[in-house]
Formats: sequence, structure tokens, C-alpha cells
Amino acid sequence: MPDDTIWLIDDDPTVRALVEHILDGAGYQVEGFSSGPEALAATGRRPDAVLLDLVMPEMDGVQVLRELKRRYPDLPVIVLTAVNDVSRAVEVTKLGAYDYLVKPVDTERLAATLHHALSHNRLEREVERLRGELGERYHLRNLVGSSSAMCRVYEQIEKVIESDITVFISGESGTGKELVAKAIHYGSHRASGPFVDVNCAAIPEGLQESEIFGHERGAFTGAVAAHPGKFEQAQSGTIFLDEVGEMAPSAQARLLRVLQERIVQRIGGTRRIELEVRVISASNRDLAEMVREGGFRQDLYYRLVVFPIHIPPLRERREDIPPLVDHFLRKFAEDAGRRVERVAPKAMERMVQYAWPGNVRELENVVHRSLLVASGPEITEEDLPPELGGANVAEPQDEEHGFLSLDEIEKRAIARVLGACSWNLSEAARRLGIGRSTLYRKIEQYGLKDAAAREPAD
Ligand SMILES: Nc1ncnc2c1ncn2[C@@H]1O[C@H](COP(=O)(O)OP(=O)(O)OP(=O)(O)O)[C@@H](O)[C@H]1O
Ligand SMILES: [Mg+2]
Repeated sequence: MPDDTIWLIDDDPTVRALVEHILDGAGYQVEGFSSGPEALAATGRRPDAVLLDLVMPEMDGVQVLRELKRRYPDLPVIVLTAVNDVSRAVEVTKLGAYDYLVKPVDTERLAATLHHALSHNRLEREVERLRGELGERYHLRNLVGSSSAMCRVYEQIEKVIESDITVFISGESGTGKELVAKAIHYGSHRASGPFVDVNCAAIPEGLQESEIFGHERGAFTGAVAAHPGKFEQAQSGTIFLDEVGEMAPSAQARLLRVLQERIVQRIGGTRRIELEVRVISASNRDLAEMVREGGFRQDLYYRLVVFPIHIPPLRERREDIPPLVDHFLRKFAEDAGRRVERVAPKAMERMVQYAWPGNVRELENVVHRSLLVASGPEITEEDLPPELGGANVAEPQDEEHGFLSLDEIEKRAIARVLGACSWNLSEAARRLGIGRSTLYRKIEQYGLKDAAAREPAD
């Protein structure tokens, strides 16, 4: 890109003059140096790329390259070399040189190589920046709350973060299980690898095996192409088996084998793929209870629950409520461009006393909604939803005219049944007479995880 600063390090003034001329014409800012030490002594801004001669009297190009790479590991360095020295030039690319060009330098080659080096570098830095941001967002410090219960959770996270131990996270819906799983992944040495989230409840039972473990082409009717499963996608990273209690018996059996052997075989395949994947699972259901009732394999249970982390419900750690309210207030006020700065003491009192059946997710939604209706710089009691004693009712307009849309009726029926069977999806689906994956789709569609959490189940 024009305006990028290029350092040209070459002891031959003729070469310098020529290359400077070429680069100048292409709009680059060129700084010429006649030796390595001269360039290395140059203080100030880091260049965007370097053109480096290999054979120089004072300090060999290889040494200069080493020093440049030590200072700026991602700096693109292009080596200039004479024909009889090509093998050495190839050698230096192993030391981190981006590429080499043979003298006499071809104008077009030079421009193209430089252009590539610079855009490649820009892209890499962008990826690095985004990765840092992601890691930052999920890092431990993004978990709010300093109750002794949460401190215990942090301690446990710290204990497992550097090892590859298999973790199981339990806790009611909305307590932050996924957030904890991400904190572990992004805090570990696997942070630059993928975090693959598998929501077992969202995958129809018949498709779970092929989704999670993959299948080869022709493995079953409809398998028109080979499909690498979630485990393969998670190579060198972490797989998060969310709502693992919803896994079908056949998938449970296969998962057990994968965990025992650390090898995955696609359905219909013979290749044994070695896995380098960390396993974290979670459930809002009591998995031990499911084992006793025969709904979950005991041997699998022991493979998954190697290191259990339990996140207590919000009502058991009420001192976390004010800092959480504050956290979400700041988050949403920023998004909405609103200056709602505080919660009135009376409103805060209500929030601290409320039972929060939907836990932190419900609290997050309440803060968001209240912030939108608040008229002044503070959230008052009136701005809270009715279950917290406020007047913030967000009912569908049609109700005023005495009828509900079909969607609304369906939504309410599902919410009621879910509440009645404590979010046991299989049980709720059975009562509603629909498939479990259909139920899951509808939960997503109607945002029921959030809504149901607010409505007391009757
Ligand atoms: N300690 C916390 N600090 C900040 N935000 C939190 C905390 N716990 C939960 N949250 C937020 O609450 C919401 C719900 O958390 P999360 O999705 O991790 O819950 P979950 O336990 O996985 O729920 P479910 O069982 O319904 O899948 C998310 O937006 C998350 O960022
Ligand atoms: Mg979750």
C-alpha cells in the first residue's frame, strides 16, 4: 500500500539508487541504509517491510535478518541475492524471511512480491488482533461476581486451565456454563485453536452421530458427501458438548469409545483419526440422577465428569446481583447510546430480592428491557417488569383486542409445558406431542429460554 515505509539495506549504492527509484515510483516511503548496523541503529518507527541484501562487508545479511526478526517477529523481510547464492537465500527463508529475489532485480517481480508481503502481513496482524479480542472477551476477568461461590468457580477454572483434563460444568439454565467453558478454552494453551460448540439438544437424535463424529460418503442414504464431524473440526482446540444429557443412546456409546481411545472413526469409514482435542461438557440437568434413572450411561458419566465445576444459581449468591446489574447496564447503555447510569436503590433492592429462576440470563434481559423503557438517567421500580413489581409489560398488542395470534398461543403453551417439566426437553416434547428437535427450534424461534425464565411456571 502506498505510504508504507520500506527499509532498503544494501551496501551497493547502484542497487540502492535503482530500487529506491522503483519503490518511490510505486508510492512507497523508502529509507536506504548501506549496512546492517546502520539500519539497526535507526530508531523511530518500525518499517512495514524490509529489503535486505545478503552479502555485505560489515555485517552479514543473515545476522541482520536474525536481529530484525528478534525485534519484530512478524516483520516481512525480502532478501536480495546474487545468482550464485540462491541456495543460501532459500536457507534464510527458513529463518523467517518472507521471500527472496535474485539480482538484478526485476521491477515487476519486486513490486508484486512487496505488495504480497505487505498485504499478507496486514491480514496476519488483523487475525492476531481479532484473536486477542476474542480471547480477551472470554477471559476469566469477564466473569462478573465476587461471591465466595463464584470465587470457588474461578479457583477451579484456574486449576484446570493449563491442563487438558476433561471438565464437566453443571448449573441451572442461564448460570454461565458456556461462558465458563469459553473462559477455560481461551485461557488455555489451546486459545489459538478452535472452540467448537455442539448443542446436543439442538441436533435431532438420528443425526447426532454423523454430526458429531462425521461420516464418509455413502455411509447411509443421503450421505452424498463425506462430512468431518465436530470432533475433527475441534482438532488442536476444544469441543464443548453442551446439554450433553440430551445425547441419544447410540451417540453416547460412540462418544464413550472416542473418549477411551482418543480416536475418532467417521461413520462408514475405516480411517482412525487421532484426536488432539480437549473435551468440556455441560448440562443443566442432574446427570447423576439421569444415570440412576437409566437415561445416561454410567461409564460415560465417569469419562465426562473427571473434573466437575458447579455454578450455583444466582439466588444462592445474591451479592453478585449488584455488580452484574452494573456490568449489563454499562454494556447495554453503550450499545443503545443511552446515558442510563444507575439503578434507583428501591429498584436494586427488588432485583436483589427476586428469585431469578432464569439466573444471569434473565437478569441480563431484565436490565436490557428496563434500560429501554427508563426515561431518565436511572432505572426506577416502575421500569422493572411485573414479576419484579414494576409496570414494564411487553405484551403483544393484539391482546388488547381480546385475541392472540396462533404463534402467541403456541409460544405460551410451550413455555408452560417447559416450566411444568423443569426444562426436560424430551419430557416436554412428549407432552406436547412434537419431536424434540422441533421443540428446540421453537424454543429458539420464540426466545423462550429468556421469556420462560421470567414467567413463573404454572
Ligand atoms: N458471571 C457472569 N458474568 C457475566 N456475565 C454472565 C455471567 N454468567 C452468565 N453471564 C451471561 O449470562 C448469559 C447466559 O450465560 P450462558 O449462556 O453461559 O449460560 P448457560 O449456563 O450456558 O445457560 P443454558 O443452560 O441455558 O445454556 C450470557 O449472556 C452470559 O454472558
Ligand atoms: Mg448454554
